Amino acid sequence: MAGRVTTSALLAALALSAAALPASAAAKQKRCPASGVGCSLKQVAAQSGIFVGAALSNKISATEKSDIAANFNAVTSENAFKWSEMSKTAATTDFAATDRMVAWARAKKLRLRAHTLLWHRLQNAPWLKAELATAGDPATRLRQLIAERVTKVVGRYRGKVEIWDVINEPLAIFGAGYDSEETPLTPKNIFYTTLGEGYIASAFRSARKADPKARLFLNELLWDARVGDPKSDALLALVARLKKARVPIDGVGIQAHAMLGTSSPWFPSTTASLKRYIDALGRLGVKVEITELDVRLPLLADQPDPLAAQAAVFRRVASACAQARACTGLTVWGQRDSDSWLDSYSLTSATAPNSPLLLDREGKRKLAYQAVAAGLLERRR
Ligand code: XIL
Repeated sequence: MAGRVTTSALLAALALSAAALPASAAAKQKRCPASGVGCSLKQVAAQSGIFVGAALSNKISATEKSDIAANFNAVTSENAFKWSEMSKTAATTDFAATDRMVAWARAKKLRLRAHTLLWHRLQNAPWLKAELATAGDPATRLRQLIAERVTKVVGRYRGKVEIWDVINEPLAIFGAGYDSEETPLTPKNIFYTTLGEGYIASAFRSARKADPKARLFLNELLWDARVGDPKSDALLALVARLKKARVPIDGVGIQAHAMLGTSSPWFPSTTASLKRYIDALGRLGVKVEITELDVRLPLLADQPDPLAAQAAVFRRVASACAQARACTGLTVWGQRDSDSWLDSYSLTSATAPNSPLLLDREGKRKLAYQAVAAGLLERRR
């Protein structure tokens, strides 16, 4: 990592000189230099052809909303589209927050990735378990509920939402299978235990019917996206099975929460290993996006310059995306460090502040911002 830190120290110096550039001059600049200096990620996105986004919460202030419109050309709904948020009871669907978000993203010309239709973990419908427990035929009831949700929600935003994370985190947290049992870390995958793997195909088929032009993704959490890692390989095998069965899947999202530290796999272990993995997915006929990138600073506390080391990790991801043809987007999970979910998430709140994002608490660009810009500009068009 030492070599990368040095590169990042150089980037730091460049970032300082960029800060001196008047905003208007930066905006007029036609092409960004390879370092990305003086350019917003939005400009970098336009030049590289890679979408650059941030997660958008319902709760952020107007100032932070303007951070997004100034810095990114894409957004992902952080929570608004999750089943728990849209449907407090089996009989109701509330579209107020999602309507607002879709309208705002369209007004700001930001590509919207709607996250997510089915996720068995933190934010599943709170009533689902009881509903299935009392159903005469739980499989039929669940199939019906999935089809209803997907058809209703995707159909409402037909032509307005470009990308759907149809399925989120189908695979077990660690290892290569599914969550078939409850554990202290995760509930069982109720979709899988009720319907088998076929729940994935049915959700994709319903979504395609509801909006034939939207691009449909499966989003997964990998601790290190690398050929040879059991979970990464299980995801490749799953996508191959879906493609073979002609399931209408257009893309795979790799979350990229760099949460585990030095003695466990880093996300990603190297630029080359991540590039190779994206290439392998690309060969199966899907596009790939990095969908929820964040890098916890406390994991780098032993580095001489933790912020530079953090920038180096961001750079590895951005470079891999730029170098792999199948990669069409990179999204960070929030805008300012103060927005990050990690400071309130039980497994990571102990080390708060985690400061895992590209803008600091005041909205200033961190070293990592420049590193992502430089990485994405490695894309050759
Ligand atoms: C997180 C949100 O950021 C939090 O606000 C929420 O309380 C819990 O979920 N993987 C995912 C995201 O796919 O939906 C999660 O988002 C983070 C982990």
